[in-house]
Amino acid sequence: MYRTCDLVILLSLLHLLSSQVLAQSDHASRACIIGSGYSGLAAAKYMQDYGLNYTVFEATRNIGGTWRYDPRVGTDEDGLPIFSSQYKYLRTNSPYKIMEFHDYPFPEGTRSFITGGCFYKYMKSFVRHFKLMDNIQVQSLVTWVEWTGDNWKVTYMKTDTRKNYTEECDFVVVATGEYSTPKIPHIEGQELYTGKTMHSHDYKDPEDFRGQRVMLIGAGPSGLDLAVQLSNVTSKLVHSHHIIKSFKIYNQPDFPGNYISKPNVKYFTSTGAVFEDGTTEDFDIVIYCTGFYYNHPFLSTQSSGVTTTENYVMPLYQAVVNINQPTMTFVGICKPFYAKILDIQAQYSAALAAKKFELPSKDSMLRHWLEHVYALRQSQFKVTNINAIGSNIDQYFEALHKEAHVPLVPPVYTSMFTFSGKTLLEDLLNYREYDYRIISDTQFTKKFNPRKEICPFDD
Ligand SMILES: Cc1cc2nc3c(=O)[nH]c(=O)nc-3n(C[C@H](O)[C@H](O)[C@H](O)COP(=O)(O)OP(=O)(O)OC[C@H]3O[C@@H](n4cnc5c(N)ncnc54)[C@H](O)[C@@H]3O)c2cc1C
Ligand SMILES: *[C@@H]1O[C@H](CO)[C@@H](O)[C@H](O)[C@H]1NC(C)=O
Ligand SMILES: *[C@@H]1O[C@H](CO)[C@@H](O)[C@H](O)[C@H]1NC(C)=O
Ligand SMILES: *[C@@H]1O[C@H](CO)[C@@H](O)[C@H](O)[C@H]1NC(C)=O
Repeated sequence: MYRTCDLVILLSLLHLLSSQVLAQSDHASRACIIGSGYSGLAAAKYMQDYGLNYTVFEATRNIGGTWRYDPRVGTDEDGLPIFSSQYKYLRTNSPYKIMEFHDYPFPEGTRSFITGGCFYKYMKSFVRHFKLMDNIQVQSLVTWVEWTGDNWKVTYMKTDTRKNYTEECDFVVVATGEYSTPKIPHIEGQELYTGKTMHSHDYKDPEDFRGQRVMLIGAGPSGLDLAVQLSNVTSKLVHSHHIIKSFKIYNQPDFPGNYISKPNVKYFTSTGAVFEDGTTEDFDIVIYCTGFYYNHPFLSTQSSGVTTTENYVMPLYQAVVNINQPTMTFVGICKPFYAKILDIQAQYSAALAAKKFELPSKDSMLRHWLEHVYALRQSQFKVTNINAIGSNIDQYFEALHKEAHVPLVPPVYTSMFTFSGKTLLEDLLNYREYDYRIISDTQFTKKFNPRKEICPFDD
């Protein structure tokens, strides 16, 4: 009697166990990508190549992220903040060659520096060509991502119905961008200033500033670009920056119009500012070109194991993998502006999701991360942003290639990126009028070839 009963229990236990094992192997592993900008689209394409089951959650109605120009300021038709920081006459600040998705090249003969609009068309063409749209779910704002112990719960709000949904994902790629949340530093007297204050994130069209007295703060890529776009329409353009004192060689161009270069602002007054050299200027508008904060409101440190602040996302192995929960990766949380890096990070993420390689132990990943942070601090430029790749980008490409067998980016790409970055500072008004051609894995040519853009991609 007892025996039969035991047997029944044993059998049902066995059944339970085997059905659990079966359920586990039956359960198709699924990856979730948050964001359909350059990084999210790249991750989607490479996951598709591996035959993975994946979904992209995109907050807005459109793919493209940064590269989709939106003339509005503030919020969009669904009440979401405008994520893109692109402006009307933006041209890339690097040759498109270093921005291409792997295996999806621009046709030969396209001019090297293209409009943002053309790059957006390229991205749309990529999505059509690889039929990625079937797996992209738009109007889905991810509001919470939680590790449950054996998978991720991703909660999003459909912006049309305002309803919330939670889905289970075995792998999560965070690709929500890093140039959407304006950073405005504190400067003495800021609150006394009665003119208009804005951030470059909301800059759209030079015509909005015709005949006005404008002050720009900052000389990063945005500050320099705005100086070029505004100097010939404003009645006075005051440009406060410290680029000349930094390590960089900067040849201030002969800007058309009334351009005045100034050092840092010492303090604001009600009508303008006093600068560190003791001089004063009055202006109607100040535009902060002072960069962006990281923003990951949907991640809790406690459950995800990753700490995100305005200035850091950590600890990330190879600037990609969440060390404490390695089924989560970040694509596009790094410096510098160099889209090829994002493409490779996306390939690395997809290879990890497809289990094409194995990560080192948690301890080794942590040690690797700490060594990287230490090296950044010791470097010539004393990089304080721990999410920076650092000065040896080719070494980074090699490491990812060796570890995950992602394609090796030939050194000519980084040479071209570094070189074109220098020309930006040396010849700000004309650096985009050159064509760059790759002639070998280590060499490129550069030729002056000003001409109108003919974008080779349809709308
Ligand atoms: C003005 C400007 C000029 C630039 N010029 C160059 C250049 O010339 N060359 C270059 O290589 N790089 C350039 N960059 C850098 C550029 O941002 C990157 O190359 C790249 O496009 C970043 O793509 P991403 O997918 O990481 O982010 P994004 O393009 O920002 O895309 C993020 C996506 O995530 C979505 N999203 C955000 N939050 C959520 C959420 N909670 N739920 C769901 N979806 C969400 C957004 O709607 C967006 O579609 C420039 C950047 C800026 C701001
Ligand atoms: C992909 O995953 C989703 C969610 O788990 C599931 O509903 C769907 O059936 C899967 N698709 C395939 C082709 O496995
Ligand atoms: C969905 O979630 C958001 C934010 O997390 C909340 O503001 C909203 O009220 C929720 N919607 C519904 C219908 O519960
Ligand atoms: C101002 O200069 C920019 C950049 O050189 C140029 O593209 C633009 O056409 C000029 N605008 C006017 C009104 O001259």
